Amino acid sequence: MLNTGIITVSYIIATILFILALGGLSNQETARKGNWYGIIGMAIALVATILGIVERAYVELIIALLLGGTIGLIAAKRVKMTQMPELVAILHSLVGLAAVAVGFANFMDPGRLSHYVGVELTIHDIETYIGILIGAVTFSGSVIAFGKLSGRMSGNPLMLPARHWLNLVLLLVVIYYGYEFVVQSAAGSGTMPLIIMTVVSLLFGIHMVMAIGGADMPVVVSMLNSYSGWAASATGFMLGNDLLIVTGALVGSSGAILSYIMCRAMNRRFLAVIAGGFGTGGGTPAAGGGEDQGEVDPIEAEETAALLANAKEVMIIPGYGMAVAQAQHIVHEITKALRDKGVNVRFGIHPVAGRMPGHMNVLLAEAKVPYDIVFEMDEINDDFPKVDVSVIIGANDIVNPSALTDPDGPIGGMPVLECWKGKVSIVLKRSMATGYAGVQNPLFFLDNTRMLFGDASETLDKVYKAL
Ligand code: TAP
Repeated sequence: MLNTGIITVSYIIATILFILALGGLSNQETARKGNWYGIIGMAIALVATILGIVERAYVELIIALLLGGTIGLIAAKRVKMTQMPELVAILHSLVGLAAVAVGFANFMDPGRLSHYVGVELTIHDIETYIGILIGAVTFSGSVIAFGKLSGRMSGNPLMLPARHWLNLVLLLVVIYYGYEFVVQSAAGSGTMPLIIMTVVSLLFGIHMVMAIGGADMPVVVSMLNSYSGWAASATGFMLGNDLLIVTGALVGSSGAILSYIMCRAMNRRFLAVIAGGFGTGGGTPAAGGGEDQGEVDPIEAEETAALLANAKEVMIIPGYGMAVAQAQHIVHEITKALRDKGVNVRFGIHPVAGRMPGHMNVLLAEAKVPYDIVFEMDEINDDFPKVDVSVIIGANDIVNPSALTDPDGPIGGMPVLECWKGKVSIVLKRSMATGYAGVQNPLFFLDNTRMLFGDASETLDKVYKAL
């Protein structure tokens, strides 16, 4: 057993490392270092907790660590970049489940009533109740988010009649049973109110995420990220563990800030997202989009190469399809070839391109595209009139002009990359299928848009050879 002084110092060092990790992760150039800070911080936290707090059952602990670690390692190795959001969602659900389990274990601990009396018992009970509440909402909400993101469930929002009233009733039930729980717990019972609240919270989590439409799912992922942090923090209160409280709060608040940033990027109000009902199902393959928008103008790889080679300003706009095609490496080869010819190549990254925050940045960093030519939407959106060729690689919703012209549509009001203001846009995709939000894209039918059909990796290979 470590003495409490050493544990406290270890916890403070771990906390500092977690803060440095968050700082590092906010920038591509320092992200790798940030990751290491996080890994070292977590290793210190684990060792200090195991040596400092655990008194027995070491064998079970080591078996659980090895089992969990192995599952995590296999999952992380196997998961494709495009499946990251669903992995993140299911991992959030585990944090929620852990909070529920710890809450019940805490409540069932026979030493509870002798250890806490009077106000202390009330406070401890409230911590347990809130911990289980947040944990259960996080758990069931994350499972539904996993189902929606992995396509196992429809992305359509579930619109129950009077759903806001339903939520209000669930909230009142939870408050009432919270009171009942605290009163009964002091008298030595309280299991029933706790179980009822857990069931109600699970239902609330399901209902909350079911009501959110496909187009708002990015916000839901970061929102559940935030909830999982608060669930961990609540667990910290239940267990009286300062490090868990602080770490949970760091995750909770950074997730909340990320949700806010995502909402701003999509021009959505956070409360409106939570209230649900916005956005249609994900990726409906709707050829033509229902209305006749005219003919599209196809282009071949050779002509694309010629246009690129003769351009002065090229803007590359990657989207989810680049991740599917794993085209980032060939994109970098083309970029190098064009830059060698004196073409100014830049990348324009939409905040919700792909399927998770920073998705495109991660892929481009993996392919070693220099950071100084990768720009965020706000930095380059005014430059399109000067752009000769925009290459849209597997992106759809993020370049859809109807976001600006149709405020009531599923992506209405979302700022988009306004590539149509440039001289030519070349769109690389396999078919006329819609993107994640399920809306047809008028960009494809504009006079200055050309369509390069095929898997982005294959077509870009041909473009590279032609260059
Ligand atoms: P999308 O609108 O989903 O469009 C991707 C396009 O890529 C599709 O139209 C698809 O057309 C094409 N594609 C797929 N595989 C391809 C391949 N192998 N080669 C070439 N093209 C391929 O993607 P986006 O423009 O990046 O927009 C992101 C959307 O996802 C937004 O609606 C956003 O709200 C949502 N979303 C974002 C996140 C985060 S946090 N970034 C999370 C969840 C949801 P074809 O099938 O015709 O090839």
